[in-house]
Amino acid sequence: MRPEDVPEAERVSDEGFFELDTRMRRQSGPVPRRRSPEHRAVWMERTRHFVRIDPGGCWVAEDETGMVGMVTSFRRETLWCLATYAVRPGRQGRGIGKPLLAAALSHGRGALRWMLAASSDPRAVRIYHQAGFELHPQMYLTGNVDRTAIPVIEKVREGSASDLELMDSLDRRTRGAGHGPDHQLMLSTWRLLVSDTTTGSGYAYLDERGRPALLAASNRRTASRLLWAALAEGAAETTIGHVTGANQWVLDIGFAARLELHQEGFLGLRGMKPPAPYVHNGALL
Ligand SMILES: CC(C)(COP(=O)(O)OP(=O)(O)OC[C@H]1O[C@@H](n2cnc3c(N)ncnc32)[C@H](O)[C@@H]1OP(=O)(O)O)[C@@H](O)C(=O)NCCC(=O)NCCS
Repeated sequence: MRPEDVPEAERVSDEGFFELDTRMRRQSGPVPRRRSPEHRAVWMERTRHFVRIDPGGCWVAEDETGMVGMVTSFRRETLWCLATYAVRPGRQGRGIGKPLLAAALSHGRGALRWMLAASSDPRAVRIYHQAGFELHPQMYLTGNVDRTAIPVIEKVREGSASDLELMDSLDRRTRGAGHGPDHQLMLSTWRLLVSDTTTGSGYAYLDERGRPALLAASNRRTASRLLWAALAEGAAETTIGHVTGANQWVLDIGFAARLELHQEGFLGLRGMKPPAPYVHNGALL
């Protein structure tokens, strides 16, 4: 993938996920939507970041009709992560996706840990399982935060670039590798909350829609404090995504805030257990 491929790669992935959401839609689930112009801009900025830093992890598949598939992946220290992976609807299930993933995996050669957030697409999970990933079901909590349930929150402050080292240390402790340059990307678009006391430290990002987007902490007490702060500071209608069974503390808070619990997708891992206390991000993990 080259920088000039990013807009077309965005279309391929948007079409792929829209068709997947339509195919997998549950009766009670949200109505599938195409990406908004704002979401599209965030997606393209993030993808340019991957292409710039990890050109060897980002690939497209083309035929005489143009681009038919795309994948973005990256290496951070000893960890490999998959960011996005899609084949155009109507072209799936015909052997385009597998070599694309193989190219992305080869970028991780020598890595000790491997992470991806899988959709529920039966083709995707089949391919990840074949590639040796353990699949851990993901939950998410959604709804309107009951403001009366929010406890008094102390020892949480706004974060800044001066917290980069602290955040990378917490990343190494929870997932085995710092986010490095991804923190700079997140800092440029998202709001950062930090807690750093003598008994524990942690951080949480709120995304452009005011929803918790990534959280890491040295213990559950600090993680809980940060998640409450993120709910208090964030949007009234929220979603806490990507919750694994190893993070039951998120359910304690989600239920206390009167959110609804659902299940979607899997955290795929190789060489590691589900990080905790940690709420991963779908693309930046
Ligand atoms: C996931 C995805 C990128 C894979 O690309 P693809 O071109 O469809 O994949 P391939 O054709 O190379 O391989 C598909 C595998 O699933 C199998 N398969 C095909 N249709 C299937 C179906 N309906 N159910 C289950 N397995 C199926 C194929 O037989 C093949 O496995 P095999 O080689 O062991 O026989 C593509 O399907 C896609 O874009 N899905 C929607 C977006 C998505 O979920 N992306 C992943 C996000 S984490």
